[in-house]
Amino acid sequence: MDLASQESIRKAVAKVEAIISTLDILVNNAGCTHRLRQWTAEGIEMQFGVNHVGTFLLTKLLYPLLMAAARQSPPGAARIVNLSSHGHRLSPFRLHDYNMENKEVPPEEQPIASLPPAFAKASEDGYLSTIAYSQSKTANILFTLSLQDRAAASGIMSYAVHPGGMCVPNPSRR
Ligand SMILES: NC(=O)c1ccc[n+]([C@@H]2O[C@H](COP(=O)([O-])OP(=O)(O)OC[C@H]3O[C@@H](n4cnc5c(N)ncnc54)[C@H](OP(=O)(O)O)[C@@H]3O)[C@@H](O)[C@H]2O)c1
Repeated sequence: MDLASQESIRKAVAKVEAIISTLDILVNNAGCTHRLRQWTAEGIEMQFGVNHVGTFLLTKLLYPLLMAAARQSPPGAARIVNLSSHGHRLSPFRLHDYNMENKEVPPEEQPIASLPPAFAKASEDGYLSTIAYSQSKTANILFTLSLQDRAAASGIMSYAVHPGGMCVPNPSRR
């Protein structure tokens, strides 16, 4: 499944639905970082599109299976775990510029003032890759909070977690 393609996500979920009728735990681990600007199949900035929008759609489509599991389990046994990041601290969600098109954002959507210079570095077209990643990880947390409000009554618990820091250099990654 490619989280950068909503068609691919829908196809994958259809396959899952054909083989299982309940889903106890969904761990939304897949995520990406990109130094240069890229777009999903639907024209969404890649890091936001994969890390939040694709994850959101996958969760929404799998939700009936999680509900089915929750109906048969003690409250809290069915779970959605969203991998966020410590990096969320660098940037709020940019509601006025979620696609990272260098639009003006109000003060409450701007990156933290003490952003280390390396993180504030933009590519030639003005793309702020670290901020794009950070706002996508903030979106993961806001999504989790929203799930906690909406899903807890059905017995589904939601968590946003930071996995720790780990970097394996990948020269092919752009
Ligand atoms: N590593 C860290 O220090 C760190 C810190 C904080 C948070 N996190 C978060 O932890 C999670 C895992 O990170 P990681 O370091 O393990 O990342 P990683 O080594 O780069 O692995 C990312 C995984 O996501 C998959 N993926 C990427 N783009 C995808 C797409 N468009 N569709 C479907 N799958 C896709 C990759 O699949 P392929 O292998 O097929 O490309 C890979 O399995 C991420 O959500 C990340 O934001 C990591």
